Amino acid sequence: MKDKKNTFKIAIDGPGGAGKSTLAKALAKKLGFAYVDTGAIYRTVGFAARARGIAPDDAPAVSAMLKDIKVEARFEGGRQDMYLDGEFLGDRIREHEISHYASAVSAIPAVREYLFDMQRSIADENNVIMDGRDIGTVILPDAQLKIFLTATAEERAERRTRELEEKGQPADYVQILADIKERDERDSSRAIAPLKAADDAILFNNSGYTPEQSLAEALQIVKDRLGIPEV
Ligand code: DC
Repeated sequence: MKDKKNTFKIAIDGPGGAGKSTLAKALAKKLGFAYVDTGAIYRTVGFAARARGIAPDDAPAVSAMLKDIKVEARFEGGRQDMYLDGEFLGDRIREHEISHYASAVSAIPAVREYLFDMQRSIADENNVIMDGRDIGTVILPDAQLKIFLTATAEERAERRTRELEEKGQPADYVQILADIKERDERDSSRAIAPLKAADDAILFNNSGYTPEQSLAEALQIVKDRLGIPEV
């Protein structure tokens, strides 16, 4: 697709729980860019499969479902809201079980194809910071800046455990660590658009960093690489 507006594109990829969305959101606010959470888009497809009682790894059934659903991302006041068939989904896509559904449906080629144009056209119309797994490699290979954000599985599991505890939700560190490792394995080993750093991505391991330290480091990278002044 043609890049009509010469927009700025920043891609942030990395495994689940590395802090991509926290970092991307903060960076987008500083720079006045739109933040695009592509995981939320896959989560919406996973949600649709669960709502229809379709096993998320049943590729023929999930592929057939795609022609019957309407997935929309709407951007309002810096927020991205997901709609399925016109219905606002809110935090329902954040349920733990939906992480599994999203990871499984995202390994199906028809699902990735179905969502490709939608992600690409958002980036053609806006200056974006887009986070996901394949943004730097597949969706925005022309991004002016690509960051591959990682942290150890243990640190990611600790952060997730703390986050759930703070929300007063049940949090079992051992189970969370096992789930994170399983999702890493599935997202990295799938045949299509696996999680991997683009050749020209800057690797950033933020283990031991606070969100504020991660943001400061990322802002420095943006300034060094793109010369965009902070807004
Ligand atoms: O970032 P997240 O945890 O919300 O993503 C949920 C799942 O969606 C993740 O396990 C893999 C998939 N995903 C993907 O395959 N490609 C993307 N660009 C973003 C997410």
